[in-house]
Amino acid sequence: MNTSKLKSTLKRVAAANRPELADLEYLLGLTDDRELALVYQYADEVRAQYCGSGIWLRGVVEFSSYCRNNCLYCGLNAGNKDLPRYRLNAEEILAAAEQIAGGAIKTIVLQSGEDPELDPLWLRDLIIKIKSRFDLAVTLSVGERSRQDYYLWRAVGADRYLLKIETSDRKLYESLHPDMSFTQRLRCLGELKDLGYQVGSGNIVGLKGQSLKQIARDILFFQENDFDMIGIGPFIPHQATALAAESKADLQLTLKTLALTRIVTKNTYLPATTALGSLGADYRREGLKAGANVLMPNFTPQPYRKYYEIYPGKRCINENAGDCGPCMEIMAGQINRNIDYSVGHTLKRGGEHGQKGTNY
Ligand code: 5AD
Ligand code: FES
Repeated sequence: MNTSKLKSTLKRVAAANRPELADLEYLLGLTDDRELALVYQYADEVRAQYCGSGIWLRGVVEFSSYCRNNCLYCGLNAGNKDLPRYRLNAEEILAAAEQIAGGAIKTIVLQSGEDPELDPLWLRDLIIKIKSRFDLAVTLSVGERSRQDYYLWRAVGADRYLLKIETSDRKLYESLHPDMSFTQRLRCLGELKDLGYQVGSGNIVGLKGQSLKQIARDILFFQENDFDMIGIGPFIPHQATALAAESKADLQLTLKTLALTRIVTKNTYLPATTALGSLGADYRREGLKAGANVLMPNFTPQPYRKYYEIYPGKRCINENAGDCGPCMEIMAGQINRNIDYSVGHTLKRGGEHGQKGTNY
């Protein structure tokens, strides 16, 4: 093990305005357990320095599993006719919001497939109701929409938006997303930022045909775009997809990507993703020790949870809506961290709280 090379590379990457691709590739390629431990520890220190010891919670409500797309990796793909689909009504979503707020959690994430029947005015009214009844920041995650829709929701107080780039490699992106365009994806991310949303993006690690160089470029893409939040999840093959026969992502590669994203982007919200918790065992603690500082407990009501099957083995499928919140406290305690019950707005740009968007 060449500790001095490793340490000097980590320092150079952390200090650079734009790290060298070759440095990131070298770090992503490490396999020795002691070397990996040093990378994770370095990321943990950067997390402590820029974000403190807190773990922020975002309560997720998966409110529609309908999707128009056919992403090669995703179990919700439109071609999967075996999956029963559901759509929650406003009352069910408001009940979930009440549970989230009742658990002292300050963010609700409204997530769905790209549901062709999502009425933007219905979602606008729902945001208004949530905002008037509860002390909750609202994060939307409903995919690619028109600027007008993004504007409509932002204007009634939606705070944040999650739209993963999945891969920053245009060719790989377009091979995984039939009928979608990388240019369009970038258009959406740009508009969301322009409208004053706090923007979350992220990638999938371990995709078929994905090289270390492409992952290194993902990390540079995250830095260039100055995202407020970045979700990094391991690929998990789903039986009803074109990638059914591929192998799942390597845990260490996922953790390295997370750790390097922390080291490069510094004060970003990085979740220990549900996919990381579903990789055979629950590796979210490992994620939290390698740079992550967010957990996303599931508040989708039963009996719908099992139908939001993005990938198989998704954790907490049988739990009830309120179960995951308390579990977060236990997890934080196990690794000597604490849950931070503040709203957790962006740490970027002097913590502008995302309220300054004026480009409506
Ligand atoms: N494995 C891992 N992550 C997946 N996602 C979708 N399908 C899979 C899969 N098979 C992720 C995508 C998407 C998020 C909601 O779930 O990154 O943005
Ligand atoms: Fe769902 Fe622990 S995170 S029960």
